Amino acid sequence: MNVLVTGGAGYIGSHVCVELLEQGHNVTVFDNFSNSSRNVLERISQVAGKRPSLYEGDLRKAQNIGCAILTHKPDAVMHFAGLKAVGESVIKPLDYYETNVSGTVNMLKAMQAFNVNHLVFSSSATVYAPPTTPDDLPLTESSALGPVSPYGRSKLAVEHVLADYAAANPYASIAMLRYFNPIGAHPSGLIGEDPKGIPNNLLPYIAQVAVGKLPHLTLLGHGFDTPDGTGIRDYVHIMDLAEGHLAALDYLTAGFEGCFAMNLGTGQGHSVLEVIAAFERASGKTIPIVEGTPRPGDIAVCYADASKAQELLGWKATCTLADMCADAWRWQSRNPEGYGRRQ
Ligand SMILES: NC(=O)c1ccc[n+]([C@@H]2O[C@H](COP(=O)([O-])OP(=O)(O)OC[C@H]3O[C@@H](n4cnc5c(N)ncnc54)[C@H](O)[C@@H]3O)[C@@H](O)[C@H]2O)c1
Repeated sequence: MNVLVTGGAGYIGSHVCVELLEQGHNVTVFDNFSNSSRNVLERISQVAGKRPSLYEGDLRKAQNIGCAILTHKPDAVMHFAGLKAVGESVIKPLDYYETNVSGTVNMLKAMQAFNVNHLVFSSSATVYAPPTTPDDLPLTESSALGPVSPYGRSKLAVEHVLADYAAANPYASIAMLRYFNPIGAHPSGLIGEDPKGIPNNLLPYIAQVAVGKLPHLTLLGHGFDTPDGTGIRDYVHIMDLAEGHLAALDYLTAGFEGCFAMNLGTGQGHSVLEVIAAFERASGKTIPIVEGTPRPGDIAVCYADASKAQELLGWKATCTLADMCADAWRWQSRNPEGYGRRQ
């Protein structure tokens, strides 16, 4: 199949490109490199033995995504391009709605114009209302929705757009995958997460402390109602997540018409202290910790009910936290500066 991967140069998209290429698909990356490096394309080819095509363009420009779809005639689109920093979304909400929502509408119009019906969309567990009692967990696809940030609301807005579009278009075939906390890297150590500036997420932060780029990890909250007092999240290996996308694509192209939402997580939570300990074991490094204060709105525990993905797609995460840390460390220690200077 020809697959267009928007945001294919980014963290999740690059790992999915490898899986697609290895399974024999033709891949075109559509990216504006606003949060990624061009060097990733060479690394993808090194891992997969085949180079994806590139269409450099901006999703906010309808003509760019229209030309990409007209030129590459994809059978399916995997849609990762978007902005994803919760804190930044509070300061720049319009940028988030413009890229995430208007950008997706531009893409859908182009898909409709050229009869491209299969779409896998990167949604997020942030679309759920924060779980406040143990009864709220695990989060199933029918748990209450109620994102608390502009980022989360932009993701939920896209889900509404996609559901409405699918209701009006009988051929639409759409999977909305709600990721929990993707971490880790490709086991080759050639591709991984390369955040710009100070990382917003726990694992890349720990990895940069371990490699000596940052002095210590600030523990954002140690007073939660959990066994060790730190927040618990559902971490899922990036390679498991990538396989989930391939399974979703297979499901769509096997004849599914309509639109569904699905959790991609392990169904198991790990505390911040457990993640630090696992990373210390994987890297042989000690992570210095400084006590900080919780971020506003942070919750104690969040993890998925991942049974729908297993029932419908036959997908189940198999990697352990130790695997995730070992692969993240291999990537970080071999590439302390990530992909190097962004070009
Ligand atoms: N990483 C996570 O923890 C996580 C969790 C849940 C959902 N998601 C979603 O998954 C998707 C991918 O996440 P990621 O971690 O790979 O992010 P990323 O920032 O590494 O990748 C996004 C890619 O999209 C590109 N991009 C951004 N705006 C663009 C535009 N206007 N036009 C074209 N390309 C553009 C960036 O250059 C980048 O290569 C995002 O939509 C994100 O919201 C991520």
